[in-house]
Amino acid sequence: MNVEIGASILSADFAHLAEDMLRIEKAGIDFFHIDIMDGRFVPNITIGPDVLKDIRRITSLVLDVHLMIEDPFNWTDRFIAAGADKLTLHIETIEASVLRRRAARLKAKGIKLGVSLNPDTPLRRIESVLDVVDFVLVMSVNPGFGGQKFIIGVLPKVKALRRVFSGDIAIDGGIDNITAKKVVKAGANVLASGSYIFKSPCPEEAIRRLRYTAGNRKCMRGGCRIA
Ligand code: DX5
Ligand code: ZN
Repeated sequence: MNVEIGASILSADFAHLAEDMLRIEKAGIDFFHIDIMDGRFVPNITIGPDVLKDIRRITSLVLDVHLMIEDPFNWTDRFIAAGADKLTLHIETIEASVLRRRAARLKAKGIKLGVSLNPDTPLRRIESVLDVVDFVLVMSVNPGFGGQKFIIGVLPKVKALRRVFSGDIAIDGGIDNITAKKVVKAGANVLASGSYIFKSPCPEEAIRRLRYTAGNRKCMRGGCRIA
């Protein structure tokens, strides 16, 4: 299965956001992962739809918008209008039955719809929506901050999910060249990585390593070397 690599802009330099994003886009990612936090569902605040709209102007890459907010349905239309290509809602913030009911209307607006679950949230919480979402985003850290340590205990959840779900399985939190290998082996095929890519002295090499360890061996060539 081809593995997609996205960069989470949470680890970007927000004082020079456009410049920093274009630097990483050039290094060879497949999409940008945009973390939206409200200070309620998670203990941090990031950006809203107006900033997303400006980000949309500077890149044509897929914008994968990860909503870590309470009452996400109050915001979905605004993030779609601002340019989101993919939208992920956390199952801890919604009723599964409401997501089921609203999924078709959201997807009709042209986005890919995802559901996410925190490391401690069991798979059964999302079972009833698996047939209405395009992808599942498995959190491998407790959401709120970049640069946290990967929680290895989520691997069985990824494996169990892959047995029952044939759509994209994305993983988010603590992804580097070591953890990428483990999650892809477990069944994930979309990797969102923040600090490993943005803070690398050579993002081209970091992305190449992610692709290589994820099984796309032909990408291990040339470029600079990082320790
Ligand atoms: C965490 C965010 C992640 C985060 C990943 O709440 O949802 O997207 O930016 O960053 P790293 O890869 O540094 O763990
Ligand atoms: Zn995220």
